[in-house]
Amino acid sequence: MSGDKKVLFSGMQSTGSLTLGNYLGALKNWVSLSEEYECFYSVVDMHSITVRQDPAELRKRARNLLTLYIAAGLDPEKNCIYYQSHVSGHAELAWILNCFTYMGELNRMTQFKDKAAKHADNINAGLYTYPVLMAADILLYQADVVPVGKDQLQHLEITRDIAQRFNGIYGDVFTIPEPYVGKVGAKIMSLQNPEKKMSKSDENPNASIYLTDDPDTVIRKCRRAVTDSEGAIAYREEQPGIRNLIDIYCACTGKTQEETVKEFEGRGYGEFKLAVGEAVVDVLRPLQERFAELSKDKAYIDGVIKNNAEKAGYCAMKTLRKVQKKIGFPERIR
Ligand code: TRP
Repeated sequence: MSGDKKVLFSGMQSTGSLTLGNYLGALKNWVSLSEEYECFYSVVDMHSITVRQDPAELRKRARNLLTLYIAAGLDPEKNCIYYQSHVSGHAELAWILNCFTYMGELNRMTQFKDKAAKHADNINAGLYTYPVLMAADILLYQADVVPVGKDQLQHLEITRDIAQRFNGIYGDVFTIPEPYVGKVGAKIMSLQNPEKKMSKSDENPNASIYLTDDPDTVIRKCRRAVTDSEGAIAYREEQPGIRNLIDIYCACTGKTQEETVKEFEGRGYGEFKLAVGEAVVDVLRPLQERFAELSKDKAYIDGVIKNNAEKAGYCAMKTLRKVQKKIGFPERIR
């Protein structure tokens, strides 16, 4: 470890196929942060089993996600890219932190309430204590910053509360993490319902652009995007569909909202949608090519998995041993 850089931790679940929203809203920013921070980017497969998964599918998706991290530009020599389930410290610290988390706190988590409503037949204890595992992820690496979407801010807040509570009793054990909320415009909404975030678990395949979509599919989905009857390409509250397409276009081309509005002044929705589709295709093409190439190189990916799991395990163990000692677990005899 370099030691002088601040530590950054983030993770994504290996459930569903990643969308353009995941890429523009998270992954792309991760790449830009990777120079400045000592980064841990985890494939949080342990979080995924809070809802039922098909084993073969979960395994395949986890590997694809890890490969995608690299395809998106994260250098696995400089960033620790690893599977959460390969570092047993996550589960061990999560158990300990469970004992420092109140049910009252967990009862307030809005994501739990949403997921419990959605999976009424499987409201398991893991779903309930999901935020504690997330706290363990972050605190295990003494992370200073955590890039997260707005929907995860409440989980980061509870992480800070748990860490502060623990530090209050045992001294300065954990670094208190700060959220890192990405630049504006990165929040990509559903193409079919622009009031809703673009989600990998959306049932309507036309609502999301997947990172694996071929050019024709991307263009078709953009053409079908729900807009309005205003007939003007403007960035306005009343035109959430057009606003979302402008955001996508800006994120893909690097242009500003004003430039985009000006560029398409007086032009029709059809033409604009096509331009958005093409801009997305241009962003996805190199990503897909790199992904295909990497996927073929089994030995290389296996090496990344092995080396980074060891590196993560080493860092995790340092914190875990300290915690165990503080709370009074007996010392190990060597
Ligand atoms: N809960 C996060 C999500 O669904 C994923 C996650 C798990 C995470 N552990 C984390 C994100 C730690 C940041 C830090 O998006």
